Amino acid sequence: METSVDYFELNRQAWNLRTGVHKDSAFYDVDSFKQGKNSLNPLELDALGDVKGKKLLHLQCHFGQDTLSWARLGAKATGVDLSDEAITLARQLNEELGLDAEFVCCNVYDLPQHLKGQFDVVFTSYGVIGWLPDLDKWAQVITHFLKPGGTFFLAEFHPAIWMFDNSFTRVEYPYFNTGGPIVEESTGTYADTEAPISYTEVSWNHSLSEVIGALLQQKLQLVDFQELPYSYYNCFANTAQGPDGFWRIKGFEDKLPMMYSVKMVKPLS
Ligand SMILES: C[S@@+](CC[C@H](N)C(=O)[O-])C[C@H]1O[C@@H](n2cnc3c(N)ncnc32)[C@H](O)[C@@H]1O
Repeated sequence: METSVDYFELNRQAWNLRTGVHKDSAFYDVDSFKQGKNSLNPLELDALGDVKGKKLLHLQCHFGQDTLSWARLGAKATGVDLSDEAITLARQLNEELGLDAEFVCCNVYDLPQHLKGQFDVVFTSYGVIGWLPDLDKWAQVITHFLKPGGTFFLAEFHPAIWMFDNSFTRVEYPYFNTGGPIVEESTGTYADTEAPISYTEVSWNHSLSEVIGALLQQKLQLVDFQELPYSYYNCFANTAQGPDGFWRIKGFEDKLPMMYSVKMVKPLS
């Protein structure tokens, strides 16, 4: 058996367990979402503008709140995720809310075997890159699904964050990808740290140059790149909420990059 297959299977099981907790968590607040709350953030909303009528592919969509939020804004949205529990819930929400999004359950690397067509927008966000061992292969999938002239947008937690131990007291992990995965036994989840679940998870740290380099290698053209000193989500330890409502690590307020975004366009020829 290929080693990488084991890693994906471990992560699929971990995300299935997390989904069971996330669907009832205050963090994801599914009730407000059902009542019409849009789960997207200013970064991606500003970057992608009016998506009405656009074909939008959402990679690693979890249980689909963001995919369905794009659908509510008029996009013809398709979400993809490795976790079968997450995709089952996404499809339920889609049906319950009378939306017309589609969902595919597969490894992002296998998507060309599961989905046809090309998209105006390929979107992926917040907590996605670290589950992928090979960013060159990831960028190939993105360019495969982008129409010429189409836009790729990534909003992600900054790799500087992943260098620290869980309590942000010391640097524990390398900034650069050392090739080998980080295999950890974990309990709870960022949406509920006390949740009674335990699992093995497998991740990789990818530097900014590795992410952007893989996309440039596919001849995508960089349109915009941002680094932000706060997180929209309170999903780290030792955080403080600023007057703007966003989250920073106590003691590192406005000293540490916490999110970044990359907007790229596929050339017309
Ligand atoms: C933190 S969530 C990101 C979604 C979004 N920010 C959210 O919170 O709803 C990460 C998602 O990536 C998915 N994932 C991890 N590895 C994957 C892979 N190889 N292919 C497809 N999806 C994957 C997980 O199942 C999980 O749903």
